[in-house]
Amino acid sequence: MNVIDIIVAKRDGRELTPAQIDWVVEAYARDAVAEEQMAALSMAVLWRGMSRAEVSRWTEAMTRSGTRLDFADLPRPTTDKHSTGGVGDKITLALTPAVAACGAAVPQLSGRGLGHTGGTLDKLEAIPGWRSHLSPTEMRSALRDVGGVVCAAGPDLAPADRKLYALRDVTGTVESIPLIASSIMSKKLAEGTGALVLDVKVGSGAFMKTMSDARALARTMVDIGTDHEVATVALLTAMDTPVGREVGNAREVAEACEVLAGGGPEDVVELTVALGREMLSAAGLTAAKDPATALADGSAMDVWRRMVRAQGGDPDAPLPTAREHAQILAGRSGVVRRLDALAVGRAAWSLGAGRDRKEDSVSAGAGVRLHAKPGDRIQASQPLFTLYTDEADRLQDAARELTDSYTVEDVAPDHTLGPPASL
Ligand code: URA
Repeated sequence: MNVIDIIVAKRDGRELTPAQIDWVVEAYARDAVAEEQMAALSMAVLWRGMSRAEVSRWTEAMTRSGTRLDFADLPRPTTDKHSTGGVGDKITLALTPAVAACGAAVPQLSGRGLGHTGGTLDKLEAIPGWRSHLSPTEMRSALRDVGGVVCAAGPDLAPADRKLYALRDVTGTVESIPLIASSIMSKKLAEGTGALVLDVKVGSGAFMKTMSDARALARTMVDIGTDHEVATVALLTAMDTPVGREVGNAREVAEACEVLAGGGPEDVVELTVALGREMLSAAGLTAAKDPATALADGSAMDVWRRMVRAQGGDPDAPLPTAREHAQILAGRSGVVRRLDALAVGRAAWSLGAGRDRKEDSVSAGAGVRLHAKPGDRIQASQPLFTLYTDEADRLQDAARELTDSYTVEDVAPDHTLGPPASL
C-alpha cells in the first residue's frame, strides 16, 4: 500500500477502500506515515468529505489503534453522554450520578478544557483530593459499586486519534465534520459504552455555529454509533448563552451540587433531565426511575458523594475560592436581550479558569458569575457580572472581553433555539 496513492485518491474526490483506511490509520499510529502526509490527507478529507462507509471504517481503525474497554458483563446496562463543548457546561457533574441513581452504569471518559470551553476534569479537580486517573480495573469497580465514574482517558485509548487531533490542531483541519465525528466516536467506541447520547451544541460559544453544521455533525456521529451497535441518539442544544449562572471550575461544581440538592438554575435542570431520560431510554431502561425524581429525592446526591469519595475526593470539603473579585454593573434598566457565550467563555479563560496550552494549569476559583441571563429584567447599577480571579491584573482584560457581550433593551428577547431538540 502506498500513502501517496491514498492522498491522491482523496484529493481527487474518490472513495477510499476499507483496506486503504485500515492501512493508513494503522501505519500513521506506528509512525510509518509521516506527519506531513497525514496533514495532506486530512486537508483532502476536509475538502472532499467522506461517505458514511468511509467515516465508519476510519473511526473503527482509530478505535482499533488502542484498547477497547468492555463492560458487557456488568449487571447494569452502560450508557454515556458526550457534549461537543460549551461555556458553563457542567451537565456531566449532576447527570452522571442522576442516571446511575436510576439504574444505569455511566462510564464517562472526559477531557480537559482548551481555550474558551471548560473541561469536566478541570472542574472535578477543584474538589480537594479528587483524582482523574483510574486504571481500567478501578473504573470497572467504580461502575459496579457506585454506578458512575468520570475519569481521564488513558494513553491506550484511541492513540491514533490523540496523534491526529494534535496534527489537525496545527494544520487548519479541525473543522472537518468526518474528522470531528470520527475523533469523538473513536473514543466513545473504545470506552465500551452500550448506549450514547450526544449533546451537540449550536451557537456562538460552540464548535458548530449553525444549525445545519450541528445537524450534519450529529447525523454523522449517530450513523457511526449505529454502524457499531452502540444505541446512539443526539440532541441539538443552544450555546448562544452560557449554561446556568456560573462559569469556572469550582464555581460550576458548586452549581452542579445545587442541582443535585434539588435546586439550581432551570436551564441546567432541564438539560440534565432531558439528557438523562434519553440516556436511560437508549440503554433500554424505559421503566427506570425518572432523573428528575433522582434529583428531587436525594438519590442522585448520594451517588455523587460516593463517586467523589471513590476517586479520593472529599464531598464535604470547602471548594477553592478566588482571591480577588470585581463587579460589572448594568448601565441602564431593561431586559437582558443577549449574553454572548463566547465572550463569557473568553472572560473566564482570561481570569485563569482556562488554559492556552495543553500543559498549562488552571485556577480552580477563577470564573464569572452571571447575575442576569437573557429574559431577566435588571435595574441600572445592579451587578451584571462578578469576575473572580487569583491575580488582580487579569480583571481588566476580562472586563474588556465582556464590554460588548450583552445588550439591555426595553423588550424581551426572542429565543433562537428553544428547549433541547432531537436530531
Ligand atoms: N473533540 C474531539 O474529541 N475531537 C475533535 O475533533 C473535536 C472535538
